[in-house]
Amino acid sequence: MCGIIGSTGEAATLNDLVEGLARLEYRGYDSAGVAVARADGTLERIRAVDGTGSLRLLAELAKDRSDGYIAGLGHTRWATHGRVTTDNAHPHMDCSGEVGVVHNGIVENFRELKEELEQAGHVFSSQTDTEVIAHLLESYLKDGLSLKDAVMSSVARLRGAMSFVAINAKDPKVMVATKRMAPLIVGKGDKANFVASDIPAILGKADVFYQIGDDQVVTVSPEAIELFDLAGKPFELKEIVVEWDLEAAARGGFRDFMSKEIFEQPNAVRDSLVGRMNAKGEIALDEMRLDPEELRKINKIFIVGCGTSYHAGMVAKYAVEHWTRIPTELDISSEFRYRDPVLDQQTLVIGVSQSGETLDTMAAMNEAALLGAKTLVVSNVMGSSMARAADAALYTRAGPEIGVAATKTHTAQISALMLLALYLAQVRHSLYPSEISDIYSEMLRLPDKIDEVLVGDAAIEEVAQSMATVKKFYFIGRHVGYPVALEGALKLKEISYLPAEGYPAGELKHGPIAMIDSDAVVFGIVTRTRLWEKMISNIEEVRVRGAKIVLIANNGDVESISLGDAVFEVPQTHPLLAPILDVIPLQLFAYHLAVALGHDVDRPRNLAKTVTVE
Ligand code: F6R
Repeated sequence: MCGIIGSTGEAATLNDLVEGLARLEYRGYDSAGVAVARADGTLERIRAVDGTGSLRLLAELAKDRSDGYIAGLGHTRWATHGRVTTDNAHPHMDCSGEVGVVHNGIVENFRELKEELEQAGHVFSSQTDTEVIAHLLESYLKDGLSLKDAVMSSVARLRGAMSFVAINAKDPKVMVATKRMAPLIVGKGDKANFVASDIPAILGKADVFYQIGDDQVVTVSPEAIELFDLAGKPFELKEIVVEWDLEAAARGGFRDFMSKEIFEQPNAVRDSLVGRMNAKGEIALDEMRLDPEELRKINKIFIVGCGTSYHAGMVAKYAVEHWTRIPTELDISSEFRYRDPVLDQQTLVIGVSQSGETLDTMAAMNEAALLGAKTLVVSNVMGSSMARAADAALYTRAGPEIGVAATKTHTAQISALMLLALYLAQVRHSLYPSEISDIYSEMLRLPDKIDEVLVGDAAIEEVAQSMATVKKFYFIGRHVGYPVALEGALKLKEISYLPAEGYPAGELKHGPIAMIDSDAVVFGIVTRTRLWEKMISNIEEVRVRGAKIVLIANNGDVESISLGDAVFEVPQTHPLLAPILDVIPLQLFAYHLAVALGHDVDRPRNLAKTVTVE
């Protein structure tokens, strides 16, 4: 899951590539590199390997080297094949050094291709799977093919999910790019054109953005952008509507993207919710492409997702079953298709993916479609691969999320999934219209309630700082408090690198309670729901074993508050909506603890924002 970019045209510069890569850094930062085609017919490569400092180093190395720039490629790497070394950093080249390639994804059959190419005399200089693409292109170019035809012939031989961009120093103005189950878009600017893994990378440089479909090939020159299938048949370009601006993709005065995004949650939730009820008082999800008649026939639902999106899906399962009475299963995407799920035409599979590009979720959705199920994706990215492939898409409107740890997209996801649950209840008449409009009205109050939670930031920071030496954390909750506990633990793990476990509170006594002692900190979600009393008993159980207790409780709930060594208060809401508020203090706690430990919260080690490998 690397980030790739390319630019060509009179106004294109090396700086565009470096700036674009900085905005793609969330996709990986093991190394960074550019290849620049110059007017003298050479392809110059600059590569930097310095962990989270790779891009900074690249920017230094590339400074003032735009002279004679005609076109160029850039790459930020999340290593899969080959260790993190300069030789393995992209761009990769052919034997002649004239063909440059940047690539995201995995060439699954690279070993057999490499063997074949080596037997034909090609000499490899890296351990990457990517380099086979450069040499394959070289062999087709030697046969007299154009770069476009060489890319088409190569794609037909490559297995796996990937996108790549290629350039030939002999005809440097024309970049050729392609994708298969990996993100890639094209941007048209005034005097320069671009390709990139995602839109923020070229926001402010390109004005119009186009989709590329799987197994399509796009040629991008300063004068034209043309799209073809692998047989060379031309395709009309489809524009992507982009509502984000450059400012939205920048830090806006915050210390880092993660804190900015946590504080953007009132807007992310509001924007995802407003305008979803029509004048007749019905939930109206305009972008949905599934016919209400089809939704009435659904008799089983699966929700699939990874990580934070899986946790949002878990909250949704409670609401969908409660409001619609449709049996609903929840699966981790990477497990779903390997467990032989029972699906048919009356099954709806809901994929939850902020990026809309996560390979495991995309593969799960594809599997579901193959088995005849209806598919619907909840995504934050319009025109993402999953949104295009699914029968229906419901968008969260959280704006671009740059911090690797998902925050605002998570609460926006839960909001959108709740809307979807209400919509299903509406078309199937399983709730009264007045119940639906009451819940929707309460949803519209959530942004203000989130603001109230955020006011507690300084107090949460103080508690986090006081716990900077704690070595083990547990998070417990019941019912919809359970996914909140899982998400609290995940946030802490990914940015603090500390052991943190989330458990359903009732399960503690079946094993995990053995780990509880006075070194442990236990977070409990004790906001008022039907299971509050049981939750309180579970808190007592860990308290008497010496653990330090931190509670997420409703404002002024003295009974709960008296049990905590520290308490983060949140306003009361509908019990099924509570996770949207309850998770926020846990995001803030994880954030402040990671900052106190001196970690880079936007770029946690070993992680990438969009996971496009299996
Ligand atoms: C955690 C996090 C990941 C993602 C997961 C799925 O903070 O961001 O766990 O939630 O990789 O990504 P999407 O939602 O893009 O499919």
